[in-house]
Amino acid sequence: MTEPAGYRLVSGIAAHLDDAAALHGAIFDKPWSREALEDLLLMSGTDGAAIMSEADGSAFAGFILFQCVGDFAEVLTLAVSPDHRRRGVGRYLMRQAFRRARDAGAERLMLEVQDGNLSAIRLYESLGMTAFDRRRSYYKAADGSHADAIVMQLSFDI
Ligand SMILES: CC(C)(COP(=O)(O)OP(=O)(O)OC[C@H]1O[C@@H](n2cnc3c(N)ncnc32)[C@H](O)[C@@H]1OP(=O)(O)O)[C@@H](O)C(=O)NCCC(=O)NCCS
Repeated sequence: MTEPAGYRLVSGIAAHLDDAAALHGAIFDKPWSREALEDLLLMSGTDGAAIMSEADGSAFAGFILFQCVGDFAEVLTLAVSPDHRRRGVGRYLMRQAFRRARDAGAERLMLEVQDGNLSAIRLYESLGMTAFDRRRSYYKAADGSHADAIVMQLSFDI
């Protein structure tokens, strides 16, 4: 699996927790702090990958965090910096998670995505993932509004 041109994969995110927390905070309503990310990495089977832009003096461009337990894997979060979107970075990070999940013995991978997050839903669909459940009012925004979570999955051909 080749990185998108101009990008370099880093296996694990432990060396980039500040960057990952800053990006998460810039994108999501309920950001995960460095400490929250550290705690997640202590959970069994949790790992991640980061991607650096070679063009910007090795700038942090995005990361993925996933958990593999038994025959089941889950993507916990995925974030690509706005400056680096639509260049294949998100798809590449997802494929890294797929590979790692399969290597760990997972038979399927799932994730939750906010209803209406079309860029993410299109990305997951382009990778063969399908929606199989909806969690009503799962996300609550700062203004008090709610949104459903769509639960998507991919079964691996073992
Ligand atoms: C969703 C996200 C990770 C996509 O990252 P990305 O690096 O831009 O995605 P890619 O360049 O790999 O795109 C792969 C495919 O996803 C789909 N896609 C990505 N962004 C899209 C958009 N804005 N509109 C429509 N389709 C889009 C397309 O099918 C695209 O393929 P194409 O470029 O050949 O048409 C990124 O937009 C992001 O970080 N968003 C904010 C955080 C987020 O929503 N995370 C997911 C939480 S579940």
